[in-house]
Amino acid sequence: MDNNSWLILRDSDPAYKLPPDLAANDALGARDCGWVEQMRPFIRHFSPPAGMVIDPFNGFGTTLVAASLEGRRGIGVELEPARAAIAEERLRRLDARNQTVLAGDLVEVAASLPQADLVLTNAPYFGCRWQSAHDSDGQLYSASNYAGFLDMFYRVLKSLKPMLREGGYLIVMAENLRIGTHFVPMAWDLGRMLAEHFNLVDERILLYERPTAPLPALDAGSNRAHEYALIARNDRKPVDLQDSLRCLRELAADFPEVLVYGGFARWLAGQKAERLPSDVDLLVPERVDLLCQLVRWFEARGFQVTRWGQPFGWQAAGTALKGAHYFRAQRLRASGELCIFDVCFDDALLQYDEALRAAAQVDGLNVLPSARPPHSLRPESSTVVSSTQ
Ligand SMILES: C[S@@+](CC[C@H](N)C(=O)[O-])C[C@H]1O[C@@H](n2cnc3c(N)ncnc32)[C@H](O)[C@@H]1O
Repeated sequence: MDNNSWLILRDSDPAYKLPPDLAANDALGARDCGWVEQMRPFIRHFSPPAGMVIDPFNGFGTTLVAASLEGRRGIGVELEPARAAIAEERLRRLDARNQTVLAGDLVEVAASLPQADLVLTNAPYFGCRWQSAHDSDGQLYSASNYAGFLDMFYRVLKSLKPMLREGGYLIVMAENLRIGTHFVPMAWDLGRMLAEHFNLVDERILLYERPTAPLPALDAGSNRAHEYALIARNDRKPVDLQDSLRCLRELAADFPEVLVYGGFARWLAGQKAERLPSDVDLLVPERVDLLCQLVRWFEARGFQVTRWGQPFGWQAAGTALKGAHYFRAQRLRASGELCIFDVCFDDALLQYDEALRAAAQVDGLNVLPSARPPHSLRPESSTVVSSTQ
């Protein structure tokens, strides 16, 4: 792979294509089957020799065919048992070694998967309206509306996070779509979601050469012969510590109830850590009026506020945060400083009142450096000047 931001795909080698008799067995006629040539450069470049490649949406096993040709081990997860069987047969015919197909819902099987060096997949596209042969809530192709589809994709990404090794890559191929007369920026929406869980580092545009036709004047339609490879790494984005601290002080002056915990709290308390904090974790009481004010406060300072990767405005905060447990406020200045605040109001392990009682005062801020109360919070650094206990 070179440093071009695009990749032109002209031919698919018949030797590795899905055989027609197997395609004929598929309920959708395998119209969503990708190209082995599409996956190979990414596998070569983004995984080590003999590394582990996982495709969470295995389909017909195209990624695993590419993995075997590149000498990588592969595991593909496919919800539809009939498709999983087609993929197995395809791999068997190619004598593809070290490749495993698992039938099941990715969200359910993710915890049992080994650590991957690379997660590489073609995202199921929205609008397929495939009524799966068996009863499953997890089939992304069956999503009846776009919000539901994004929500399902979000769950998949979340469950992938622990199985991707630190520093490993997650590459999702996705298109923007046209559904009826509507343009749906699916690739960009998925990109935003990836950025919430991983460090989105780059993209490639895959171009499939197809015959062109003249377009009537003022018409915007295209043959949609391109897609995006969204490239993310499983590492933390470094935040700007001084900018975050300035912002945090300002926030605490306006909202004294805010409590800092997690990595940033440990950094404030002067504790040694393997890496610098990648965000500021805040705990606040679960009060709708307070949450709305906080969202407004962040917005007024140029932060983008999101829930599950989706932006929302402060007017909608009351509704948007129902059923959620946190929101994220992120600001990237034109000069490059990044601040990320994760504002949690419903932590399964941490109760706000209890946490506040256990917190120490560091420089006028409520700080809980330990993972959770009531562990010892003895000041370990000279910057801890008093405790609220
Ligand atoms: C775009 S197709 C993958 C095609 C594949 N790249 C290939 O070329 O062989 C997406 C696949 O994801 C599967 N899928 C959808 N939701 C799933 C889920 N929750 N868990 C596992 N597989 C799922 C669909 O059944 C479909 O086969």
